[in-house]
Amino acid sequence: MALKVGAGSAVPPFRVMDVITAANAREKTLAPGAPKILRMEVGQPGTGLPEGAKRAVAAALGSGDVLGYTEGLGRSSLRARIAAHYADWYGAKIDAARIAVTFGASGAFPLAYLAAFNPGDWIALAAPYYPPYVNIATALGLRPVILPCGLETGFQPTIAMLQALDPKPDGLILASPANPTGSMLAPEELEALARYCHGAEIRLISDEIYHGLTYGKPAATAAQFSDSAIVINSFSKYYSMTGWRVGWMVLPEDLIRTVERLAQNFFVSPSYISQIAAEAAFDCGEELEANRARYAQSRELLLAGLPAAGFSAFSPPDGAFYVYLSTVGMAADSTSFCTRLLDEAGIAATTGYDFDAARGENFFRLSYCAPTADVQEALTRLTRLNAAS
Ligand SMILES: Cc1ncc(COP(=O)(O)O)c(C=O)c1O
Repeated sequence: MALKVGAGSAVPPFRVMDVITAANAREKTLAPGAPKILRMEVGQPGTGLPEGAKRAVAAALGSGDVLGYTEGLGRSSLRARIAAHYADWYGAKIDAARIAVTFGASGAFPLAYLAAFNPGDWIALAAPYYPPYVNIATALGLRPVILPCGLETGFQPTIAMLQALDPKPDGLILASPANPTGSMLAPEELEALARYCHGAEIRLISDEIYHGLTYGKPAATAAQFSDSAIVINSFSKYYSMTGWRVGWMVLPEDLIRTVERLAQNFFVSPSYISQIAAEAAFDCGEELEANRARYAQSRELLLAGLPAAGFSAFSPPDGAFYVYLSTVGMAADSTSFCTRLLDEAGIAATTGYDFDAARGENFFRLSYCAPTADVQEALTRLTRLNAAS
């Protein structure tokens, strides 16, 4: 008997999750007193829920209120707070009716894709990229168009690249700061791309999940420049709420009701308690800025220490908490390099295959949201590994 399986069975794994499993297994076999595994594979802040959010959650739990379903697009107080955030941070006037609260940024992608595109539509994006952009699109029958990008364009796509495409894409995904490179578009580059997409009837999806985690360069939002763009953001990174699974979208007027209908049917509503925590997190600026300062310090350590550890060909990240490094001259490919890194140096890192099927074999990603002492220790171990090669 051969029962049918669906199109979803062709979706590749999100390999970083497999690295987590391997690193967890490795930790279990460590002898007592052995040096710990440095967890630099995953982009998960170890800083925990901000204190003000903890207090808000405790108050909600203590109040005896039934924390039930909320509106499909989220609690109106949180949507209004998110809209106010656009005024605070970017000076942009966004109507709260355009905000949709989602299950992290991850929950926003299927809603955005289904609201804006049809099966067979072409979605352009730069490589290297965050893998679920492509894997979710493919699972939904969309066709990704990969634009190979390098240091020359700061790993970001250009208008010329879009103009050269035939057929013209139906959508473009931008990420600034980007994962895995940490690269950013300058505000004027984002503006030019957003305006070009609007004029050319290309639906722009701007993933702004790493806003707040920038180290000197200004971050603009696509919502400032285009009313037709879909902006995606999350409480997972700057707000240090990864496991609370709460994010948001800024929607164009023409997609609000569609996304609402999709969200009601797919999820009924976002998590009530996570929305309480998220709303309070907006008032935890001091703590969140201290987290950012910690990442900035780790970034400085890496920028200073990586060349001495044998890694000089990389682009200093403008934002997020990743460095994307070349393995050329270090190993046959990045998978064998990452295996060696875990086995011999006790560092868990992610192979570039996840981010760039064509060129990723020469790269790996280190995440520096680990404690600063771990980042320092990783540099020592990388230097030792390099000397032993
Ligand atoms: C670029 C990017 N977008 C989206 C996500 C998904 O984030 P979440 O679903 O936790 O909000 C991540 C997670 O690492 C990411 O790096």
